[in-house]
Amino acid sequence: MRKNILKAPFVKEMCMTTANMYRIGWDERNGGNVSYLLDEKEVSKYLNLNKVIRRIPTGFEAKELIGKIFIVTGRGKYFKNVEYSPETNLGIVRIANDGTTAELLWGFEGGGVFTSEFPAHMMSHIARLKVDPENRVVIHTHPTHTLAMNFIHDLDEKKFTHTLWEMCTECIAVFPEGVGVLPWMLCGTNSIGEATANKMKDFRVVVWGMHGVYGAGKDLDETFGLIETVEKAAQIYVLTCNRPRINTIKDEQMQELAEYFKVNYRKDFLNL
Ligand code: 13P
Ligand code: ZN
Repeated sequence: MRKNILKAPFVKEMCMTTANMYRIGWDERNGGNVSYLLDEKEVSKYLNLNKVIRRIPTGFEAKELIGKIFIVTGRGKYFKNVEYSPETNLGIVRIANDGTTAELLWGFEGGGVFTSEFPAHMMSHIARLKVDPENRVVIHTHPTHTLAMNFIHDLDEKKFTHTLWEMCTECIAVFPEGVGVLPWMLCGTNSIGEATANKMKDFRVVVWGMHGVYGAGKDLDETFGLIETVEKAAQIYVLTCNRPRINTIKDEQMQELAEYFKVNYRKDFLNL
């Protein structure tokens, strides 16, 4: 007897995370998408892995991910609705042997398909798995203050990271490698996917200029927490940027923090 997929921890976690993201205002309408690499054995407790519901072409080749199974949000689906109807807003797909097709194993009921940002997600998984075999999650979202900061702050990676690090004491410990930044690009394309994956070689957070952010991590909690920390720093920046700054966290103090927490930080992003 197979277990009820709606009770699977990974489905529940997807519901909880998307609901959280909606409620804190990051994901208006269909904004944002999430993909989560699942363990085949774990999924087989809930689904017959030999039963493919539909085959969906991906439009790109992901040889490195052949056979891998992901739970992913749907194209045009609203995060606010995921918890009420996971079977229509989420899907479980396996990358087929040709590397260019996704086999639908569950979900996307009513004819839905995976997010339009599937290329950026899959290419980011490939890039992050090379750096960290434990990486399982990629989240794209539109966090309000990070987005606001894009319009009033230099998009240079060093300057952008430095400002974020300055805004909350623990930022340098949470994202010591800094934040990658891409200029505005057309979303939903293989090109933005390739550019994101290229940045993901060095960073777990990549800002899409004037659009949103990508975050990667080993689980949903960690990845959400990472983006949340960037967003908190951006919020402090937006709240203080048009007032005289009379105190700041100095570069020497950031260095002290990074060394205390024993993190491998981008020394060239500090001005020592
Ligand atoms: P999807 O609805 O296709 O996931 O797109 C949302 C989005 O944020 C595009 O960048
Ligand atoms: Zn988006």
